[in-house]
Amino acid sequence: MKIITTKNYYDMSRKAANIISAQIILYPNSVLGLATGSTPIGIYTQLVKWYDKGDLDFSDVSTVNLDEYCGLPPSDSQSYRYFMQKNLFQFVNIKAEHIHIPYGNAPDIEKECSRYDHLIENLGGIDLQLLGIGHNGHIGFNEPNIAFEKMTHCIELNQSTREANSKYFGALDQVPQKAITVGIRLIMQARKILLVVNGKDKKAILEQALFGPVTPEVPASILQMHPNLTVVVCD
Ligand code: PGA
Repeated sequence: MKIITTKNYYDMSRKAANIISAQIILYPNSVLGLATGSTPIGIYTQLVKWYDKGDLDFSDVSTVNLDEYCGLPPSDSQSYRYFMQKNLFQFVNIKAEHIHIPYGNAPDIEKECSRYDHLIENLGGIDLQLLGIGHNGHIGFNEPNIAFEKMTHCIELNQSTREANSKYFGALDQVPQKAITVGIRLIMQARKILLVVNGKDKKAILEQALFGPVTPEVPASILQMHPNLTVVVCD
């Protein structure tokens, strides 16, 4: 495990973007596992800047997002599909057919979960997985549980997660109750993991995740077992 401590959010974003950028330059057909939330926005902004300068080419890159709310169509401004379009995809030359995000509005959610697992397997797995961490230790929407859920699945979101995300929806009751998330298996099979952590309020859970016992009650603690984990952190 490598831990990189940074000065501030901007520094964290640039350092993490540098790691993703190096991946794309070295392996132009990389499969990137991408994340949403407030933490990675600065990373995407930085990648777009380097793309604009001509330093990055996304034409052979494929992306697979970690999760999506159930019940929201891709056109909904709260969907993660919309988030990715707004913060990254609309600005770079990624091919539409190379973008993959669970379809939260699928009529058969179980079928959608298994489609997503197969899709990522068929892509050859994830080369670099970008992750944030929730205040409860979740990664993707793998919430604290009695066991690690291996496969892509539909999850009932924790109250604390819905409260944390209600800032985007305006009111708690607008936040969907459920989401689709890739499971722990695909995350752990990623060849590299880049965990970005912003804010003093994440310090305690990060400490538990990286140095506490490996337990499904702190889903991110499984990352201790990953052979190629980089953590970029700022206070
Ligand atoms: P945040 O969310 O970046 O908005 O803090 C991270 C997460 O919940 O995974």
